Amino acid sequence: MTELPPPGNAPHQDVPPSHRGPEHEEPPAFARELWNTRVGFILAAVGSAVGLGNMWRFPYYTAEHGGAAFVALYILLTFALGIPLLLAEMTVGRRTRLSPIGALRSAAGRAWVPMGYLFVAAGFLILAFYSVIAGWVTRYAVGIIFTGFPDDPGAYFTAISSGTEAIGFHLFFMTLTIAIVMGGVEKGIERASLIMMPTLLILVGGLAVWAATLAGSGEGYRFYLTPDIEEIFSLDTFSAAVSQAAFSLSLGMGAMLTFASYLSRQESLPREGTVIAFSDFGVAFAAGLVVFPVIAALGLQDAVGESTVGALFIALPGAFDAMGGLAGRIVGSLFFLALLIGAITSAISLLEVVTSSVIDEFGWPRKKAAVTTGIVIAIFGLWPALDLDALGAYDELTGKVMLPLGALGIAIVVGWVMKNPIGELVIGSSERMRTFFTGWLWMLRVVAPILLGLVLWTTVPDAVQAIGGLFR
Ligand code: PHE
Repeated sequence: MTELPPPGNAPHQDVPPSHRGPEHEEPPAFARELWNTRVGFILAAVGSAVGLGNMWRFPYYTAEHGGAAFVALYILLTFALGIPLLLAEMTVGRRTRLSPIGALRSAAGRAWVPMGYLFVAAGFLILAFYSVIAGWVTRYAVGIIFTGFPDDPGAYFTAISSGTEAIGFHLFFMTLTIAIVMGGVEKGIERASLIMMPTLLILVGGLAVWAATLAGSGEGYRFYLTPDIEEIFSLDTFSAAVSQAAFSLSLGMGAMLTFASYLSRQESLPREGTVIAFSDFGVAFAAGLVVFPVIAALGLQDAVGESTVGALFIALPGAFDAMGGLAGRIVGSLFFLALLIGAITSAISLLEVVTSSVIDEFGWPRKKAAVTTGIVIAIFGLWPALDLDALGAYDELTGKVMLPLGALGIAIVVGWVMKNPIGELVIGSSERMRTFFTGWLWMLRVVAPILLGLVLWTTVPDAVQAIGGLFR
């Protein structure tokens, strides 16, 4: 990540030489690409899950929703709702061996094809704003390493978060994402995950240990870990926690479905799903263990308390800077580096949903599909790169409406429509697990639709308002 080209490159200019040249014929659909190793699949799926959602959105939502109450609900929902939905997506993906549109057609029938399009649209819109934020992260990492901290973090954030610089770094990040997805499942996504994910886990773990040594960290832990009971019963906090659980596990838009479609028929889905969910939760929790002590050590709670998308980008550099000298600079750059790695491995899964759908539906070769879809998404990202309110609206619409809606659809498809979903979970598991699997099916049939319905009932009006506000 040291040789950064100047911002503003058009996405197609940064394609590595090995990827240029004549297109090769894609193998026919029945020779679907597969993960090379089980670990490769797990790291890629954890890579999809772990990202800005864990290290930026999670602390920001936690601060916004009263701290530990939100954390408690989020933990509960990750396990009670997140794991069942994750297994549901994986079931559809591995059974059909297709990307979302075809997968839903094959598992549930034609009537469900529009939901496949909803998934692709969600991947499209999420990546469009996700890449803008990842662009800020890149800008911060480069800035801290080469020139140190800005004097006025607030003004700095305003300067780089929208406008020419934001666009330049957004396009750079999209180029990187496209280059990896062009490489394919094994040589692109799996290889990148095998290198990046262990690095990220070490970085975040190390930072959490380091944060414990800060004077004043106790205050941060208290805010993070002592729940305010009243907040737990707020419908708003609940909806935010559901949205966060879905976003963080990459659920409701077919990313896990698509990744599982490249998985062999031997692996146990419940085992892999549990590893993925625990890792995702672990990194989010550890990120909180870094962010809150760092901020509390400097008495910056209020800056994050009135949380907006940018709060962390303003408070954290200020906090690292206040630590002074080289130490602050090293720790600060490591934090943004970890954030960047997480963002890349998530972005490739978002692009893969769109790209693989185009490959499967139109029979395009992978490279052409990845470049074309990537460029169109990059164009959709220009608006959020120019306007923070648009960025917030993309986030609201996707996180609070499209993902819960997609998750509801998946729960119904697997719970009520698909034939013998349990058959897919049984593979590689012991017979004694059958009772659990029946429980899982009823979670999907009854509990998940009730919870997700409740969420949509509260979030749809908010999202409509946020979007309406843009056109006023
Ligand atoms: N889970 C990713 C994160 O936490 C974001 C994401 C959402 C990725 C949906 C893929 C699909 O950053």
